[in-house]
Amino acid sequence: MKFQHMLTALMSLALGAQAYWMADIKHQGLAPFGGANYQVFRNVKDFGAKGDGITDDTEAIRRAMNTPNNRCLQGCASKTETPAVVYFPPGTYMISSSIVTPYYTKMIGDPTNRPVLKATANFAGFGLIDGNPYYTEKPNWVPVNVFFREVRNFVIDTTNIPPRTAATGMHWPTSQATSLYNLAFVMPATADVVHVGLFIEEGSGGFMADLTFQGGESCASMGNQQYTMRNFKFNNCKTAITQMWNWGWTYIGLEINNSDVGIKMANSDVGSVTLLDSTISNTKTFIQSSYTPSGKPDTQGSIIMENIKFNNVGTGISGPSGTILAGGTTTIAGWGQGHQVLGTAGATELQGTIQPNTRPAALMNGNVYYQKSKPQYENLGAGDFLSARSAGAKGDGVSDDTAAIQAVITQAAASNKVVYLDYGLYVVKSTVNIPAGTRIVGETYPVILGSGSFFQDQSAPKPVFKIGSQSGVAGRVEFSDFIVSTKGPAAGAILVEYNLVAPAGNPSGFWDFHTRIGGFSGSEFMIPQCAKVVGSANIDPKCIAAYMAVHATKQSSGLYMENTWIWVADHDIEDATNAQITIFAGRGIFIESTTGSFWLVGGAAEHFHLYNYQFAGTKNIFASMLQTETPYYQPLPNAIQPFTVNTSLRDPDFATSCQGVSGNCANSWGLRIIDSSDIFIYGAGLYSFFNNYNTFCNSIANGANCQSRMVSLEGSIKNVNIFDLSVIGTESMINRDGKSLTKNSDNFNTYASNVIMYRSG
Ligand SMILES: *[C@@H]1O[C@H](CO)[C@@H](O)[C@H](O)[C@H]1NC(C)=O
Ligand SMILES: *[C@@H]1O[C@H](CO)[C@@H](O)[C@H](O)[C@H]1NC(C)=O
Repeated sequence: MKFQHMLTALMSLALGAQAYWMADIKHQGLAPFGGANYQVFRNVKDFGAKGDGITDDTEAIRRAMNTPNNRCLQGCASKTETPAVVYFPPGTYMISSSIVTPYYTKMIGDPTNRPVLKATANFAGFGLIDGNPYYTEKPNWVPVNVFFREVRNFVIDTTNIPPRTAATGMHWPTSQATSLYNLAFVMPATADVVHVGLFIEEGSGGFMADLTFQGGESCASMGNQQYTMRNFKFNNCKTAITQMWNWGWTYIGLEINNSDVGIKMANSDVGSVTLLDSTISNTKTFIQSSYTPSGKPDTQGSIIMENIKFNNVGTGISGPSGTILAGGTTTIAGWGQGHQVLGTAGATELQGTIQPNTRPAALMNGNVYYQKSKPQYENLGAGDFLSARSAGAKGDGVSDDTAAIQAVITQAAASNKVVYLDYGLYVVKSTVNIPAGTRIVGETYPVILGSGSFFQDQSAPKPVFKIGSQSGVAGRVEFSDFIVSTKGPAAGAILVEYNLVAPAGNPSGFWDFHTRIGGFSGSEFMIPQCAKVVGSANIDPKCIAAYMAVHATKQSSGLYMENTWIWVADHDIEDATNAQITIFAGRGIFIESTTGSFWLVGGAAEHFHLYNYQFAGTKNIFASMLQTETPYYQPLPNAIQPFTVNTSLRDPDFATSCQGVSGNCANSWGLRIIDSSDIFIYGAGLYSFFNNYNTFCNSIANGANCQSRMVSLEGSIKNVNIFDLSVIGTESMINRDGKSLTKNSDNFNTYASNVIMYRSG
């Protein structure tokens, strides 16, 4: 091992190779609320880690993580003020107890030669990486409030630990705007092994991609509200995936080889699972299911799958009374169990073969849906990046950085360079124009804040980031690891306007790119300005935070969004108790592209006033696990005020559509689709948890009636397919032209209500 590393090092020297650009680049991130000389970027070697495969590096890595003493660790609820990137050069880092990742931390290894985190034989702890330690009987951070963190490019190795000693590779109960990318879990592959690779017991995720597992008893043991997981490979795991509980879950591109069980979901707390474009080989049982048709609750354990290849599979799906789906060597084009709603008919039982979706070529790469991981620019050197701070941007959350941000973006696009957005809070006072060819990558999660008089008028809304000078301009962009936001108030701000037409087969991409509206230091939408208001329809103008988050205009097309959290804050992240706030933002994600080609992979839009997702006059949209929440304050005020109906944006008109509808009708739509075709949704979790901050309404036992309606399909609708729809706290799950197609009470699941397949026809 050691010899190998020496050899690699010598070879690099001989070739004159440079380190990965992230190590070489000038580090000038500034955390305006982090204290004097706060260091954002940390290279573990600068803190004494050796990575030599011998030295115990645990303490050195901890220093890199935890310095200075204001990082968000034990007892801290959450905090954006002290961000960090903790970078690991290649090497084998021996660790003897857990590395805890503080809040707002990205732990990044060199992608060109992934560092190995290797447990010592006497390792003690719950995960080599423990993302949320149990100092008491509860995890340190409330799992549903853990946002903004990432671990990428590591090998996590437990093979030194005896196979029969309990060991966990990584403990990761977290939520939105978090990601794991490009990790390998290496465990002993003995018959008696009890190691677990990835363990998640709670949270509201989320997204992960490009994980491999080898050896181990249960390679991924997971419970969480919902997830999208893409490109996971399992080799020689006894059980590849243990699904402990969920409401919904979407797996894309699983490869399971040589397992006893592929997915164990026999637990009665498992709501539903969607699987597509996967290959299962040499496995005794692919899925262990607990589903019983017309059992109670009706739909618990629902499954839907499309394009699943079996090579030498013993049993496809086993159930409480024997085989449900045979194994063999074959391709399962389409199969489902649960409740279906076809056309305008009500819910009926489904268990068996289904016709797979007719997938448009525009969304495909060969015979699977197009997918693309976050660019890490491995082939570029430090000289290929232009720093925002070197260009004169202050990023202090106060100074007007409009000119400097515009200049660095224009210059980078003109010279084929990548903008490096050093950590900071960059205030812009007018629209930033993003030309085709722009690539921007952030250092942890820097923030662009639209602010000032330019963004005040909701009768003349203005974009903060305008991508492409007008709708229909050719070209593409790449954004990763940063946030666009506003600084209060900003009733006329459209955070992101997308106008480009990307080349076929090479769409624009957003990865770990978010909008975060309010709830953090620097936003001016926090407890002092916008503390929650209960029992009043009052709308405080200084708490109107945005007109719309993301707008894909009519002539635009070709945009791949992976792990994008489009969020209006429901609580103050910096507050010690995470106290709630009442802020208003009009519209979430609006796609009106006439030709489409949009992929929404593992994203969420939450707490927008009129709708979270709206597709109008569009087609060719792929989505996995669209997750939404209705604003907690609704219906006080309801969705009729303060945003006036803009017919050119096809806004919902609640004053009209709610006539004659009982209950809390004028509440935000989770998903609204108008005059559209060829929409393919694989997993949606659309939730309404509150009636003006009271949660009594959301449980099935109490009627699940926080609001009246959740999904609306209107006008000319063709080939719209929603698989695995989970709805909480809402009486009518799906409406077609104002008429309810199916009610929650027809489709009860574990906590949500579930329709495993809706097809408009
Ligand atoms: C599946 O596992 C077997 C046994 O370890 C191995 O020989 C084979 O190469 C694996 N196949 C794939 C596709 O990884
Ligand atoms: C409606 O939206 C369009 C498109 O963003 C905008 O140009 C127009 O100003 C808006 N009109 C009103 C009255 O809000």
